[in-house]
Amino acid sequence: MRVPMRKEKFKRMRMHIKLTVNGAGHELDIEPRTTLLDCLRDHLRLTGAHAGCEHGVCGACTVLVDGTAVRSCLMFAPQAEGTAVTTIEGVTPGPGELSPIQDAFCETHGMQCGYCTPAMILVAHALLAENPAPTREQIVEAISGNICRCTGYAQIVEAIALAAERMRGANRPSELRK
Ligand code: FES
Ligand code: FES
Repeated sequence: MRVPMRKEKFKRMRMHIKLTVNGAGHELDIEPRTTLLDCLRDHLRLTGAHAGCEHGVCGACTVLVDGTAVRSCLMFAPQAEGTAVTTIEGVTPGPGELSPIQDAFCETHGMQCGYCTPAMILVAHALLAENPAPTREQIVEAISGNICRCTGYAQIVEAIALAAERMRGANRPSELRK
């Protein structure tokens, strides 16, 4: 004999969470299974974190959580409570302005379609915050978990190396060079 299930069993459970994203506080009612990626894109309309494979392989969804690059498709949004989440929108200085890393990506043609680019830039931010003078091997290692289908990676490595030099004051943007 079939036992009738109570209707509540079929109701989707929701929970109230507080997130800090790009320095701003947010309160959300979401399903506990909501990934940080879906929360950022669908609830907060921060679409710079891209959905690629959605199972931890491509790295396109990378954001910073307390300064560490993480794959937001593998993290549930409630797990991010009490942390500081940074997306690509949060490292862009302002409308029409670029961070030194973004500027270096433009200058070295470190992007083509741009799908991997926000993640690559955030990985670069995490790397350079920890190691302002990385070797090329350390840059390659840092981006090794992020897939780019367009550039062949050489220009991305060049962009991060250039940004590192500039952030140490060693190589100013071309328009400022004599
Ligand atoms: S979308 Fe998260 S790793 Fe691919
Ligand atoms: S620029 Fe197209 S995937 Fe990297």
